[in-house]
Amino acid sequence: MTETVWAPDGSNLVVHADNADFLPTLPDGAFTLIYVDPPFNTGRAQQRQETRMVLNAGGDGDRVGFKGRSYDTIKGALHRYDDAFSDYWSFLEPRLVEAWRLLADDGTLYLHLDYREVHYAKVMLDAIFGRECFLNEIIWAYDYGARAKNRWPTKHDNILVYVKNPAKYHFNSAEVDREPYMAPGLVTPAKRELGKLPTDVWWHTIVSPTGKEKTGYPTQKPEGLVRRVVAASSRPGDWCLDFFAGSGTLGAVAAKMGRRFVCVDQNQPAIDVMAKRLGAHAEIASCPPA
Ligand SMILES: C[S@@+](CC[C@H](N)C(=O)[O-])C[C@H]1O[C@@H](n2cnc3c(N)ncnc32)[C@H](O)[C@@H]1O
Repeated sequence: MTETVWAPDGSNLVVHADNADFLPTLPDGAFTLIYVDPPFNTGRAQQRQETRMVLNAGGDGDRVGFKGRSYDTIKGALHRYDDAFSDYWSFLEPRLVEAWRLLADDGTLYLHLDYREVHYAKVMLDAIFGRECFLNEIIWAYDYGARAKNRWPTKHDNILVYVKNPAKYHFNSAEVDREPYMAPGLVTPAKRELGKLPTDVWWHTIVSPTGKEKTGYPTQKPEGLVRRVVAASSRPGDWCLDFFAGSGTLGAVAAKMGRRFVCVDQNQPAIDVMAKRLGAHAEIASCPPA
C-alpha cells in the first residue's frame, strides 16, 4: 500500500482512510461528480439502553410503579441504529462541507439516504449549497423483503441531488438508459422503440443475492442505479468521488464508463472487497490520520 497523493493526471485510487483525514488533502474543485451513501450508524452514541417495565405478579420486583404495584425493569435490546440525531449530523455535516469544496463549478453531489434522515439532510444541504442549488430528490423504489402490516411498508431510498452552480452544472439526459412505456399501445412505434426518459422515481431491483454483481459487502448498491448517476452527471475522463465507498460500486461503474475515480473507506473489509473488484483499475493506497 502506498501513501496517497491524488493528482489530476494520476491513477484512480482506492484509499483506506477516515474520510475526515483524507478529504482535506484533495484540492478545491477537483471532482465533477460526488456520490455518497453514508452509514446511518456512525458507531457513536450507540450505548443507549431501552428500558421497559413489566408487571411482577409476585410483588418483589425492583421498582414500585403505578398504584404501588411492583415492576421488574427489563433491559431492552441495545439499539444498533439508535444514533442521537445531533451526533449523526455533527459527523456528516463537515464531510458534506468538504464535498461542496471538492466539487467543480459544473459538479453535482448525490447523497443517498433513506426516509429517516432525508428531511434533515435537505435542510442541511440547503444551508451548505443554497436552496437554488437543489436539483432533485430521486426516489429509488424496490420491492424486496417482508411487508409491515401496521403501516405502509417502506420500500424506497431517497437520493438528494445538489449542484455547485445552477448556471453551469453538467447534466446529459441523452446518456441515460431509457425505460419501457407503461402503456406502449398509446405511443408511436418509434417512441416505443426508443423508450422513455426516467423520471425522479427509479424502479430498480436490489443487488441480487445470487447474481454475479454481488460482492458480499452488506450495504452494496446496484450498479444500474449508480450508472444513471454517472451517465447523467459526468463525462468520460471526469473525476468521480465516493468517500463512503463500501464495496466500490461507484468505482466499478466509473471504470466501465471511462471515468476516473477515487473511492475512500475506513473499513478494512471494504478495502479488501474493492481491491478485488477494482484492483485492475486503481492503485490501493492509505492515508494516515493527520
Ligand atoms: C452504506 S456503506 C456504502 C456502500 C456502497 N455505496 C456500496 O455500494 O457498496 C457506507 C460505508 O461508509 C464507510 N464509512 C463510515 N464512516 C467512514 C469514515 N469516517 N470514513 C470513510 N468511510 C467510512 C463504512 O465503512 C461503509 O463501508
